[in-house]
Amino acid sequence: MRTLSSLIFAIIAILITPNLLADGSELIGACAHCHGTDGNSSSGQYPSLAKQNKEYIVKQLKDFKAGHRTNGQMSPMVGILEENDMVLLAAYYNDQNPTKQKGIDGELVKMGQQFAKELGCASCHKANYRGAAEIPRLARQKRVYLEKSMTDFRDGNRKNADGTKIDAMKTLTDEQIVAISHYLAGM
Ligand code: HEC
Ligand code: HEC
Repeated sequence: MRTLSSLIFAIIAILITPNLLADGSELIGACAHCHGTDGNSSSGQYPSLAKQNKEYIVKQLKDFKAGHRTNGQMSPMVGILEENDMVLLAAYYNDQNPTKQKGIDGELVKMGQQFAKELGCASCHKANYRGAAEIPRLARQKRVYLEKSMTDFRDGNRKNADGTKIDAMKTLTDEQIVAISHYLAGM
């Protein structure tokens, strides 16, 4: 009986797996709890993936898999992902639209805009902070996550970037980080 049910299970698994993985829907379901079905994440601690650049998403997934970037919640998610899954997921999220963020402070937006201009952040992150290839889109990213990621780079807790990027973050003050997070999330 046990052998028979395992056999039936194995046959069902063989029959359905290729279809589920062909469009990535099985995987998107596994990510949705934190990143949302449409890539707009469920809370400020999870980055949104909607309209994020494909090359950036693939690079981050590879970095998590190789251990160059680590996070208690995210690192365990990448073990099962192969490169073609990463490419499928990246294409799916790149096709979604980021929603307008709440809780944005108008005064901090103005300060953040000024700081970002002085610091030349758009020289890499491009006009309207849409990024390009492996440089991430920052516009409408979750504010709390933006604050965390900038702090992680500054304090040496996120190291998966080249020296030029790390240098650009080293001098940021807490005041600048908070203001810039309001500016970018509020775009
Ligand atoms: C339990 C919650 C959770 C699940 C489920 C999850 N993630 Fe994440 N993910 C996170 C967190 C938290 C971060 C941010 C880590 C950090 O702060 O460095 C993250 C970061 C990422 C990033 C980097 C985004 C950026 O802007 O740098 C990508 C890409 C990503 N996740 C993709 C996925 C994919 C694809 C799946 C499904 C296979 C998935 N995640 C499942 C919690 C989760
Ligand atoms: C030399 C080019 C360069 C400059 C200048 C630069 N960045 Fe970046 N930034 C990058 C790259 C590349 C990454 C992605 C690194 C990686 O994980 O591969 C990144 C990542 C980020 C992230 C994390 C996004 C995410 O989804 O996790 C934030 C936030 C950020 N930058 C903000 C800024 C701000 C604010 C400034 C100005 C003070 C700035 N950057 C200046 C190149 C740059």
